[in-house]
Amino acid sequence: MITHKKFPNDFVYIEIENSSAKAKIALQGAHLFEYKRVGEEDILWLSEISDFEKDKAIRGGVPICWPWFGFNEDKNLPQHGFARTSMWEFVSSDEVSKGETTLLFRLVHNEQTLKIWAYKFELELKITISKELKMELKSTNLDKKAFKISQALHTYFNVSHISEVVIKGLGKKPYLDALTWQKEMQDGDISFDSEVDRVYQEVDTNIVLVDKNREIKIKNTNSSSAVIWNPWIEKTSRMSAMKEGAYEHFVCIESANAFDDSRVIEPKKSHTLIAQIF
Ligand code: BG6
Repeated sequence: MITHKKFPNDFVYIEIENSSAKAKIALQGAHLFEYKRVGEEDILWLSEISDFEKDKAIRGGVPICWPWFGFNEDKNLPQHGFARTSMWEFVSSDEVSKGETTLLFRLVHNEQTLKIWAYKFELELKITISKELKMELKSTNLDKKAFKISQALHTYFNVSHISEVVIKGLGKKPYLDALTWQKEMQDGDISFDSEVDRVYQEVDTNIVLVDKNREIKIKNTNSSSAVIWNPWIEKTSRMSAMKEGAYEHFVCIESANAFDDSRVIEPKKSHTLIAQIF
C-alpha cells in the first residue's frame, strides 16, 4: 500500500508498506529515510532531531549526493551537490509481486539547476522495497556536451553501537583518507575507535557490515568506490542535526562513483549506479 503523507509544515513524503517491509521516502531529494523489514530493527539510521524542511538535507536515511560528491571547487556551491535538496517528481509505483514494490522518482534540469550546473540532465531513482532494498540511480545526459559526475548513495546504517561494528570486504583496498588527504592501504577489516572518513577505491566485492546481532550485505554495481564515514565525538558536535552521542548509533557505507571513480557521461548516454542491501 502506498500513502501520500506530509508533516505539519507540508513537507511531503510517501509511505509504502508491503508484506516484506515498510519504507518512507521524502519527495525532496527522493530521500529514503526509513526502511524496516517486518519483524526486524530499522536498517537505516535517522537522526531524532533531523530537519524535514524545504532546502535542508535530511540527516540520516539515504541522501543522494549528485552531481558531485563532497566539496565543489567553488566553495559557494553546496557540499554533495543539489539533488538531495531538490524537489523530485514521484513518477510511478509497481507492485511487482506480493512483498516487492518498486517506486520511480525523477529530477530533470531546471532554471535553478542550470544556474549552478550548466548541463541538461535527467536523474531517475528506482527504489525496490522488498526483503532486499535496491536503489538504482540512473543519470542521463540530455545535453549536447559530455559531463562528468561524482556521486553517492550516502546510506546511514543503524547499528547497535559503533564499538560493535566491523566492516568486511575492503581489506587490501587503497583509500583516500579525507582527514589527511593521504593515500593509504586498508589492512584487514575496519573497526572504529576514532573519526573515520575514507574513500575506498578498486572495490569489487560485496561489503559486509557485521554488527552485534546481524550482518548486512551491500552489493554495488557500476561502482568501484565506497565511502566509510563516522564522525566520532568531536565532529558530531559540529554536525548539523546531530545530537551529542549520535555517532554511536550509525555508520555510513556509501555506494559511490567518487574521486578516481567519477564518470564521464556522453550526450544521450546514461550511467546507472546500483546499491543492493540485504
Ligand atoms: C560524508 C563525507 O560522505 O558526508 C564527510 O565523507 C561529510 O566528509 C559527511 O562530513 C556528511 O556531510 P553533510 O554535508 O551531510 O554534513
